[in-house]
Amino acid sequence: MTEGRWYRASAPGKFVILGEHAVVYGKPAVVLAVDLRMTIAVRDSRYNTINGERIDFKRQPHLRYLTRDVDHALEFSTESMIPVGSGMGSSAALSAALALALSMRRGDAMGEEELVEEAYGAELYAQGIGSPMDASACVHGGGIAVNLPESSDRHLWTISRGERTWSVSDVDVPDMTFVIGNTGIRAPTGPLVSKVRRYMERSSFAVDVVDDIEQVTIEGSQALARDDVEALGRLMTEDHKLLSILGVSCRELNKLVNASLPYSYGAKLTGAGGGGCMVALTDRPDKVCEAIRARGGVPYVVRTGVPGAMMHPE
Ligand code: MEV
Repeated sequence: MTEGRWYRASAPGKFVILGEHAVVYGKPAVVLAVDLRMTIAVRDSRYNTINGERIDFKRQPHLRYLTRDVDHALEFSTESMIPVGSGMGSSAALSAALALALSMRRGDAMGEEELVEEAYGAELYAQGIGSPMDASACVHGGGIAVNLPESSDRHLWTISRGERTWSVSDVDVPDMTFVIGNTGIRAPTGPLVSKVRRYMERSSFAVDVVDDIEQVTIEGSQALARDDVEALGRLMTEDHKLLSILGVSCRELNKLVNASLPYSYGAKLTGAGGGGCMVALTDRPDKVCEAIRARGGVPYVVRTGVPGAMMHPE
């Protein structure tokens, strides 16, 4: 048979300003999409391949989940600027872009809410535990808030699993400068989320720390809404300390956070932690980049206010 036509879509990466981990327990969070994108193209083919290699679906659970109803071999081609296993949403962006490309192939391109359900389904299938925060940010783009009642007039969707419910709203993207610092250490999300869950099951102290993250996130979202960089930065640093107490930071992340602080309003790990990236809120991005580089990290001055998942017609 001849190969079919290509269907191409992309989705952005993201970083969490406040609230990761606690959001898994239905607490609030605020997330911005960034100008690092994942693009995926798919077409009918003789064999299942990705970037020219045969696919081992056991090692590609997102692909396996998203193609569960496809009864044809497919060829995938990916291009990504999002560092993998870094807390920047690479797997959610892959899932969002692929779900969109596959729905284009069926001739029925999915809307945002359907895409979030599909991308979140893939995330849960692959890592067993987690919230729909990353999927929502990568599908919607711009900025999102999860479970923050004051943003409910811009409600996008509500997603439930078991006893948890996440109400997702659109938020304004602040005119602020954020620098990401990548430790270069890959840290898959699932084991870190499970580690926090075990800690919470064993210790009421961990439950209190998650409640403190909730408080910091609520105050931080108010600081964000009034463009108060000083208060927001202070709360980001506070959030980093709370996440460290939960056991999801590491020496390399702490090094990059501490190196950034003299030139920042605040800094914290972003995403699941254990490696991956940190983020600093600053008006001195050059100094922060220099400090991150001097400690062995890779800095990116990210652009925010970017579109979410989108189709790229051939
Ligand atoms: C990972 O980017 C964010 C976590 O809160 C996990 C999740 O929400 O699924 C750590």
